[in-house]
Amino acid sequence: MTTNDFIAIASRNDVKSGKTTWQTPSNIALVKYWGKRDPQLPENPSISFTLNNCHTNTSLSFVKKEEQDDAFCFKIIFEGEEKPSFQPKIQKFFERIVSYVPFIKDYNFVISSENSFPHSSGIASSASGMSAISMCLMQLEKQLNPTISEEYFYKKASFLARLGSGSACRSVKGELVVWGEHSEIEGSSDLFGVPFSSTVAPIFKNYQDTVLLVDKGEKQVSSTVGHDLMHGHPFAKNRFAQAYDNISKMKTILEKGAISEFVALVESEALTLHAMMMTSQPYFILMKPKTLEIIQEIWNYREENNSNICFTLDAGANVHVLYPISEKETVQEFIANELAGFCQNGHYIHDEVGFGAKEL
Ligand code: DP6
Repeated sequence: MTTNDFIAIASRNDVKSGKTTWQTPSNIALVKYWGKRDPQLPENPSISFTLNNCHTNTSLSFVKKEEQDDAFCFKIIFEGEEKPSFQPKIQKFFERIVSYVPFIKDYNFVISSENSFPHSSGIASSASGMSAISMCLMQLEKQLNPTISEEYFYKKASFLARLGSGSACRSVKGELVVWGEHSEIEGSSDLFGVPFSSTVAPIFKNYQDTVLLVDKGEKQVSSTVGHDLMHGHPFAKNRFAQAYDNISKMKTILEKGAISEFVALVESEALTLHAMMMTSQPYFILMKPKTLEIIQEIWNYREENNSNICFTLDAGANVHVLYPISEKETVQEFIANELAGFCQNGHYIHDEVGFGAKEL
């Protein structure tokens, strides 16, 4: 599919008003996206587990304008309060997507959102937030053109979400999603995420992810700035090639149930992501001392208990602890007894692999 396939054709103009509500989850990358080019295209393919409990619920209310104009008219309510500070982000998103959903100029919108996780938890809300708005817009597009197929509906939702935030395109479907063209991943594209279609070994089903909230503050360097620093980065070319290669490796690992290789690859990806940050110009570090202490604790625990626990990191200080469901009880005990002590206010969130967007 090409970008032109995503230009909406409205066949009806009698949709005066309505409301649609969607829930979409966050996701955690196993092979990371870090580096992009215009318009929001990844420099390398990535793969993520879709999460379940960390999600955003978004309602989109729409009323057709009395008189046509070219402005985007919307109001944002976040967790019950009007948020003019979110306005520029959505304005920019609408500017990026308007050629694919021109009908957004025809309506007055109220976008009302809430997250299942605390706002200032350091958990990226852009993936779940942008994918939720995209699902709502697709629901409106479907009303304007009821002939669109289900496949198109989800692909375009992912396509739109990508234009809001790259990783958001992996939050529309579950359980594993690949974004970025790769010769071994059928149907893969730089334009949208596709569900990983190979058979996944049972050990990777219902995989568990506990998010340890190490630092709930605002990050010093945003992902967008971090991506930008990959332009001219001395290791960028090798990194993109390595990630491409790691997708091939991850595919085999997931198919074969090769858990030790999984652990090694996931941790290496997390540390490589942060190594890219540390070797950017200007350089920066998003991990905190407690992030490193947790990593050490996880390694000790794995060694002593013959466990398959491992960690991964986003662009922040929080640690995602990944483990198979067979270890749920023991690992969660270890988290409560040992790792919680490293978290801000002892705060962590148990999550697991989920299935993507749901209409509410
Ligand atoms: C480290 O998707 O947040 O989480 O496209 O600029 O919105 P933008 O960036 P974003 O980057 C996420 C990067 C990452 C790795 C990943 O999720 O693959």
